[in-house]
Amino acid sequence: MKINAQEKRSYRVHEQHQTLGDVLRVGPNTVYFNDPRAVSDIYGHKAISKIGKDTFYDRLAGDFHDIVQERDRSEHSRKRKYLSNAFALATVVDMEPVIRANFQNMLDRLESFIDSTAKEKTEGDRFNIRQWFNFFTLDVIGDMAFGLPMGFTKAGVRYSITVGQITSFRLNGILKQLAKCSGLIYSSTGSKDADDFEYMSLHQLRNRLDKGGPERSSGDFIGKILSDKDGKSRSLPLGEMLAESVVMMNAGSDTTAAALTNTTYYLLSNPRCLAKLRKELQEAIPADHQGIVEYNYVRSLPYLRACIDESLRMRPPITYPPRLVYAPEGATVAGHFLKQGTVVAVSPYTIHRNETVYKDPDTYDPDRWFDPDQVAALKAYNIPFSTGSRACIGRHIAIVELQILISTLMLKYDLALEPGQELDVFERFNANPGPLPITAQRRSRDVESTA
Ligand code: HEM
Repeated sequence: MKINAQEKRSYRVHEQHQTLGDVLRVGPNTVYFNDPRAVSDIYGHKAISKIGKDTFYDRLAGDFHDIVQERDRSEHSRKRKYLSNAFALATVVDMEPVIRANFQNMLDRLESFIDSTAKEKTEGDRFNIRQWFNFFTLDVIGDMAFGLPMGFTKAGVRYSITVGQITSFRLNGILKQLAKCSGLIYSSTGSKDADDFEYMSLHQLRNRLDKGGPERSSGDFIGKILSDKDGKSRSLPLGEMLAESVVMMNAGSDTTAAALTNTTYYLLSNPRCLAKLRKELQEAIPADHQGIVEYNYVRSLPYLRACIDESLRMRPPITYPPRLVYAPEGATVAGHFLKQGTVVAVSPYTIHRNETVYKDPDTYDPDRWFDPDQVAALKAYNIPFSTGSRACIGRHIAIVELQILISTLMLKYDLALEPGQELDVFERFNANPGPLPITAQRRSRDVESTA
């Protein structure tokens, strides 16, 4: 079976699960499970003594493994300790001004789009909000990580042109030069985009290190990685700092841009859910409120959170989390014995649609998050951020961004799709949505909710 056909791997795997059953052998050594028990058997805290990350992650890695790629358990714990501290909810909330400043740049773009379409009265013009979410998430994670502006949204162009105006042909030379001074052995990935991305991260890391410290009181992630709470240096090699810088930029941008795009898409195509959300927002946020919604107003709004969680259930941004049975004695997953060397996975796309635990699983229905018959399963088997010792440590960043952006966009603007408009997806390691062109107008708070 060819599983990466047309970059729709999880859709193909799902079709095969439906035809062939809950245990699917997709290669000589690779088995996928659509069984709720497999979630903790493969990814849970207890599973780690027998099942760990697959060698697939080595193929993504350079000379220094970042936290996502690290397969060695003690190395992983060491990295996880300092990164979890950097990404704690309290740190993210302290950085709300960074989110707001970068979101304002995106709103300036949206406002000029609205003004230009009103002036020229051009019908059919569309604002590809997916692209601007992408620029925003790159800007904000770069700013949080290095305390330096990235400038994607302001420039409105891809990273190879914006950062330092340096094109990738200089990349290898610069990295080799750096390698000489630092003992870092750099090998090109062979992909221009990946090289540009690494160079961009290196450029920001070097600027941050040259600058010596963050300018704002909430600090930056690199500062929290460089030294512990008492200010004692962790003495990390430059290669490790670069690897973690790249992973922050990468894991912290595409996934959140996908979640923002998907949530926007589901709300615009489900007017009943949108009306219900607006009612909740209007009740929580003062009528004369101006500008971007403060996190404090929206942090505990249950329906907003359900709209976000439901979009992560329907379209999980990461869809390929393979694991390896490494214990010589093998391991048991959902009642099946598997020998050492077997690659195992649960496809989040499929388990989120498991009919034994969710009602009408293909429907976008935020209300399911309040249904006593489904809520326990949603907590146990809904795994957009994975679960166990390798679960996402950046989820607070993503959720805070989603709460602020989605509430502001839905409360203050009328965004619309064309009738029947669909949202494509292109899967690599991440499931990246395709373009999401929309029309936009400012929205008056007087508009009555119809929920
Ligand atoms: C909606 C947004 C996000 C989703 C859906 C998501 C999802 C995930 C998933 C599924 C994993 C496990 C990957 C695997 O098993 O290979 C993961 C790991 C990770 N994520 Fe996220 N993520 C999101 C946002 C972020 C953000 C904003 C950051 C910040 C830098 C981040 C940093 C990480 C890191 C460092 C790991 C590795 C954890 C470890 O191996 O210990 N993620 N994420």
